[in-house]
Amino acid sequence: MTDTVLFSFAEDETLGASLCNLTGAEHGAWEHHRFPDGESLVRLDTDVSGKHVMILCSLLEPDRKILPLLFLADTARELGAKRVGLVSPYLAYMRQDIRFHDGEAITSRIFAALLSRHVDWLVTVDPHLHRYHSLDEIYTIPSLVVPAAPTVAEWIRKHIGNPLLVGPDEESEQWVGEVAAKAEAPFIVLRKTRHGDRDVSVSAPDADAYRDRVPVLVDDIISSARTMATTTRQLLAQGFRPPVCIGVHGIFGEDGFGTLKAAGVERILTCNTLPHETNAIVLDAPLAEAIKHIIAGYGTAA
Ligand code: R5P
Repeated sequence: MTDTVLFSFAEDETLGASLCNLTGAEHGAWEHHRFPDGESLVRLDTDVSGKHVMILCSLLEPDRKILPLLFLADTARELGAKRVGLVSPYLAYMRQDIRFHDGEAITSRIFAALLSRHVDWLVTVDPHLHRYHSLDEIYTIPSLVVPAAPTVAEWIRKHIGNPLLVGPDEESEQWVGEVAAKAEAPFIVLRKTRHGDRDVSVSAPDADAYRDRVPVLVDDIISSARTMATTTRQLLAQGFRPPVCIGVHGIFGEDGFGTLKAAGVERILTCNTLPHETNAIVLDAPLAEAIKHIIAGYGTAA
């Protein structure tokens, strides 16, 4: 992909370098200057004329990243880029998919419409699809989803003997079920009640037959980590061994990481969609394949 340039946001530089190695794209140089008043100046230092441009930006803390991202995308196009795609391993604003309370914004729709106006395509990893079945319900651009399940299952097969996969809530069933099938392990799904952002309760597992197995909690997002911490305490109270906790996207907001460690887990690991010390499951290769696939669909920089 010699006619392709990838611009990484600062936090995503390591993944960006790896994706350039795997795809043959040029790692573009750009500057993001923040003025004292909080406004941004974006400058592209790599020629993009006639090229296919990709922006790598994992969208944790999206409010601070979205404007520089749109400035970068629009400027690349003004400077002659043929296409501008977004590689966002963690896609933000997917959880507010209905109006939970009167007057609330359905931010998933608004955010998707905004991005769809500024980039030509999107590659992401396991977006939080709950009430939406596909990104196509809210994004009007072509998108490709990289599933973490095959790589997560491979890690479990290699590292854990006799696992029992555990999903902390009904929403996690789609991930835990797929990982369990690929890891050839049994799974159970618990019921979660959310009382507030940092307050959840989880049903007791009804899984006596599996008590000798190593519980492996699997969820798409670890945010405050209260879901995983509460599930861990519930499993320990029922006589299970300390669980291994696997999150596709490890946000660990506030004291999330400490909270989860303190709950008595055996190990915490995440995919490298958001840089964190728990990143043990590396998705560079499937991400690179998805990028090559989506760009191939456009022909040569056309
Ligand atoms: C929610 O529905 C997701 O699948 C996760 O279960 C949730 O985001 C975890 O949040 P927290 O870590 O804050 O409990």
